Amino acid sequence: MHIQFSQTRPQAARLIAQIADKGKLPSSLSRAMREGAEAARFKGTPGQVFDGFEESGDTVARLAIVGAGMPDAEERLANLEKAGAALAAKYQSIGVEELVLDLSDAGLSAQEAAHVVLGIRLRNWRYDIYRTKMKDEQKVTLETLTIVGAPDGAEDAWTKAGHLADGIEFTRELVTEPANILYPESFVARCRERFEGTGAEIVVLDDDQMEELGMGSLLSVGQGSARGSRLLAIRWNGGKSGEAPTAFVGKGVTFDSGGISIKPGAGMEDMKWDMGGAGAVAGGMLALVKRKAKANIIGVMGLVENMPDGNALRPSDVVTSMSGQTIEVLNTDAEGRLVLADALHWVQQEHEPARIVDFATLTGAMIVALGHEYAGVFSNDDTLAGDLAAAGTKSGDKVWRMPIGPAYDKLLDSPIADMKNIGGRAAGSITAAQFLQRFIADGTPWAHCDVAGMVWSDKPGRTWGKGATGFGVRLIDTLIAETAEG
Ligand code: BES
Ligand code: ZN
Ligand code: ZN
Repeated sequence: MHIQFSQTRPQAARLIAQIADKGKLPSSLSRAMREGAEAARFKGTPGQVFDGFEESGDTVARLAIVGAGMPDAEERLANLEKAGAALAAKYQSIGVEELVLDLSDAGLSAQEAAHVVLGIRLRNWRYDIYRTKMKDEQKVTLETLTIVGAPDGAEDAWTKAGHLADGIEFTRELVTEPANILYPESFVARCRERFEGTGAEIVVLDDDQMEELGMGSLLSVGQGSARGSRLLAIRWNGGKSGEAPTAFVGKGVTFDSGGISIKPGAGMEDMKWDMGGAGAVAGGMLALVKRKAKANIIGVMGLVENMPDGNALRPSDVVTSMSGQTIEVLNTDAEGRLVLADALHWVQQEHEPARIVDFATLTGAMIVALGHEYAGVFSNDDTLAGDLAAAGTKSGDKVWRMPIGPAYDKLLDSPIADMKNIGGRAAGSITAAQFLQRFIADGTPWAHCDVAGMVWSDKPGRTWGKGATGFGVRLIDTLIAETAEG
């Protein structure tokens, strides 16, 4: 979407929007608009839209009033995004190319204005490249947003927020792409493209290199796939030289068929977004790198495709991870943890991070527990868990802490190897987290975010339509801003 700031309303504007706080219509409205809004019971609640028409000179333009709620609400910024998102949702396909957002008498701060713009841009995002036969009325026509009457500093505030939008949109794109297009190698290629010229360092390990390092756990997941596996690391040194980085680690299973423990057919298509954790890490890194975050950060993505074939991993196989620990694989569909085990070990050995946060669509049980409102967070460190919870509340990417402990860990003991890869029916999300913890060195603060319920949405939400949400990018961006950038 093309976004520009202007001093005056464009002459031929056909669609104009204004913001209204709860119970307070903009003073510039005509009598017809004012009475129309009242008749339509427009109250100015966040995201409520009333539209009518306005005559100016010899043209008539559509005029939309969108509610932003109370100016002193705790969720003010989220409400303003909701207002922006409501405008995009309503007007993106009406055949109009330009939306003029007139903030002249909205009384917003620069940051507040930027959040309205962010809401519009994020909600206007769509990925229609494979739809060649869309009817005109289905196509997104809204291409340009022109903001007039913006408060001082709004353009700079938007430049910052725009980097975040770039990151979120990149994550959504990766999550949306089907698995015949996005597989480990092409995931890497897309990241190389997107990070080119940003100053980030990219390191990629292929199958042979991972074999050499002894990553038998990650590689075992990809061994039934015709596609190669990859480990992708993106490093950004924006902080003090020599300061230990924050590591983000993502599960990037580009398709999870279940492997030999194959999943039922119904809903299997959802498993194209089993790389949503890695997608969040890629988009989060992009947002941070674009805004030149003053922190040292490393993003690591374990990229594999989980497929059944003659060479595939079998239930009962014992594999050896890079850490030296052996794993009895009892269910090849519990593959995310096998991927993360080696990715987590590698990042500790190679980068000695000060703290680690992993993101993974790890368990269906997480959706049973928390639905689609919160990601589950499991951590060995109260400070990190608290920082994540705070960043979640602030950014809107909410997380809820879950318990871990030795009694759950015991459920992973195996009679033939150091551990098995499943715990049993009870506490499935927790035993998955316990498995990961076995690959974290004592004393390293670590948090695991199970985002299975968050990366994809079956219905439109706050700033997204049906489909990829971009969950995690804002959490990553806010965590770094609040805890690592002095
Ligand atoms: N990718 C799935 C988890 C998942 C399921 C994410 C549904 C999003 C929606 C994961 O690899 C998996 O299959 N987990 C199993 C674990 C079980 C075999 C212990 C599960 O959740 O059923
Ligand atoms: Zn699986
Ligand atoms: Zn999976």
